[in-house]
Amino acid sequence: MKVSQRGAIPRFIVMEVMKAAAEREAAGESVLHMEVGQPSTRAPQGVVDAAKQALDDDLLGYTLTMGFDGLRARIAQHYQDFYGLVVPEERICVTTGSSAAFLLTFLAAFDPGDKVAILRPGYPCYRNIMGALDIEAVEIPVGPESRFQPTLKMLEAAGGAELDGLLIASPANPTGSMLREDELKQILDYCRENQIRYISDEIYHGITYGDEVASAAAFDDNAVIINSFSKYFSMTGWRLGWMVLPEDMLQPVERLASNLFISAPSLAQHAAIAAFDCREELDGNVTRYARNRELLLAELPKVGLDKFGPADGAFYIYADVRKFTNDALDFCARMLEQTGIAATPGNDFDPVDGGSFVRFSFAGSTEDIAEACKRLGPFLQGCE
Ligand SMILES: Cc1ncc(COP(=O)(O)O)c(C=O)c1O
Repeated sequence: MKVSQRGAIPRFIVMEVMKAAAEREAAGESVLHMEVGQPSTRAPQGVVDAAKQALDDDLLGYTLTMGFDGLRARIAQHYQDFYGLVVPEERICVTTGSSAAFLLTFLAAFDPGDKVAILRPGYPCYRNIMGALDIEAVEIPVGPESRFQPTLKMLEAAGGAELDGLLIASPANPTGSMLREDELKQILDYCRENQIRYISDEIYHGITYGDEVASAAAFDDNAVIINSFSKYFSMTGWRLGWMVLPEDMLQPVERLASNLFISAPSLAQHAAIAAFDCREELDGNVTRYARNRELLLAELPKVGLDKFGPADGAFYIYADVRKFTNDALDFCARMLEQTGIAATPGNDFDPVDGGSFVRFSFAGSTEDIAEACKRLGPFLQGCE
């Protein structure tokens, strides 16, 4: 019987590394988890308490499609508190993780055959979701010359005004690179002039190591802003995210979301309101990421890994391993087998050059990161 080509998209490799790591753990062996981009901490205590209360109060029917009003208002308040921005709560749509927000945005903003530029290396699911929807992902190769972010010249080379959309994450996965405010403004101006819909993946906001991060919401009402409770808020499995939508996308998104999802999970929505009042606990996590980052930046060069992305934000080091291999899939499999370190092959983020890169997540404990640094040296010596 017929099976649609929509499912014939590439696998999400990191989930397979996770599976291999889990199998190793089930066999009683230790694993240092540096593969998956998720905080090792649980949700903040305030969220856990609010979830228990919501269960007791039985507040768990469907919510409105755009989200529970109390949460939308609290998210709007967050824009005021965190960025000093006024964002009307009517423009906020609560989603099942940012993953659902990408699906909804692509469906609402683009038609099959439209061209949407993304960066390579970049988060693989952008390309793969677009593939399932027959939207053409136009890859812009970026590297250390432009700090892994695009210049206007690169946007021109990718098609310029021919493009229908542009999606950029800042801080980015897997490189951690960030757009400076002036660069972001320049790109937004370019998109406005050329009628290109800008999609801003801001899911790593809150996890930065120096420079202030700017939201595209400050400069352009036509941009789609996507954020999530997964990273800074340490709530990956609660599956909750949000969008700030342009006026012209509100009705299309509401129609699509009501048919596709009805609403985002109620329990997560009621609990997440409390997340914004847990800044101290959450900033404590960021302090740990900063410590882990410093440790890796100091130790990796000593074992021969001295070229990586800028790691301005998020919790990743995207290391150039071409000295050791150009088959990162095999390299990561051997590293897991021989050292117990699980990391993600660059092939997930870059189908062209990714075989020469490995992404190490430093969202785990400092003890694990220190132990991984010790085990990496002998392994890499064996690869030379
Ligand atoms: C850049 C980026 N965007 C989006 C996501 C999806 O996150 P979620 O669906 O949990 O919000 C991830 C997850 O790792 C990511 O790295």
